[in-house]
Amino acid sequence: MAKKVLLSGVKPTGRPHVGNYFGAMKQFVELQGKYDAYIFIADLHALTTVQNKEELEENTAGVLLDYMAIGLDPKKVTLYKQSDVPQVAELAWIFNCLTTVPYLERAHAYKDAVMNKKEPNVGLFDYPMLMAADILIQDADVVPVGQDQKQHIEIARDTAQKFNNAFGECFKLPEPLILGAMATIPGTDGKKMSKSYNNTIPLFGSDEEIEKAIMGIVTDSGSDMPTNVYAIHSLLRAKDELDRLYAENRGQYKKLKEILIEDMKNFIRPMRERRQALEEDKQAVLEILKSGGKAARERAETKMEEVRKLVGLKLY
Ligand code: ADP
Ligand code: TRP
Repeated sequence: MAKKVLLSGVKPTGRPHVGNYFGAMKQFVELQGKYDAYIFIADLHALTTVQNKEELEENTAGVLLDYMAIGLDPKKVTLYKQSDVPQVAELAWIFNCLTTVPYLERAHAYKDAVMNKKEPNVGLFDYPMLMAADILIQDADVVPVGQDQKQHIEIARDTAQKFNNAFGECFKLPEPLILGAMATIPGTDGKKMSKSYNNTIPLFGSDEEIEKAIMGIVTDSGSDMPTNVYAIHSLLRAKDELDRLYAENRGQYKKLKEILIEDMKNFIRPMRERRQALEEDKQAVLEILKSGGKAARERAETKMEEVRKLVGLKLY
């Protein structure tokens, strides 16, 4: 039987952090080989917030290095950047015409932006339609993401259904693949770890950056248990071992943070070194992106031909 199709993407909006790794990226590595896998860099989505050529170029190449450094193997996964598949923008337009404004107004990312009194651009408002196109154009069965992206996958399913009802059977309904217990990794302030909150531990951080971030983890002075330190530590050690360690060092926040620092450094160092080695031959790494883009584009074009026919756009 043919392998199921797995697809996911990350926006090139800054350095990845430990939350991205445990929430999403790690699964890509574990699942490659088991699926027909497509992992891409969402550079078109990044344009909703990054409007600087150098920054976008650098971040896009950076994400590719990140993916390869964590162990994605281009022989097992098609690695590409979203803008190399312009068909997704074409499909997103068709989805726009099937989707209502009130429906998209209910999306969390948009509601958050409005609540924060930002004036969202149309790209941010329409973000879920482009994401639905990313997923549906490659016939994805499963989409591994963090909890915060679940609503976007539901929107993609709804959109597939709307299209199928309107024009005839065409798209599969994708399933999210979400990590259970640790679906939301907390940051150094206890809120969700996020590039936007300045509370991250960078995934390829230097020893100094790791020390600084962990020493800055907020602890509650009224209790014996440094909850945020423990939560992050639990990513790196088994529960029984960790419980013993925290019982032995009850109330000793500084010592526990120092142990976490050592564990985190040992975890990050080999990945950081692999990334540095890959950076030496950036051209070779970019070639991987180019050939992945070609493969993803050809596959998307086949699907789009089907879509154009169903919609009434293909006359010859
Ligand atoms: P950020 O919030 O830092 O901007 P992104 O939105 O770029 O992160 O998320 C990239 C991927 O990592 C998504 O699949 C997202 O669900 C996952 N992710 C991000 N932060 C976390 C977190 N704190 N815990 C779990 N998963 C996360
Ligand atoms: N919205 C996702 C994020 O913020 C990135 C993304 C874009 C994506 N298109 C996708 C993830 C398609 C999975 C599938 O992380």
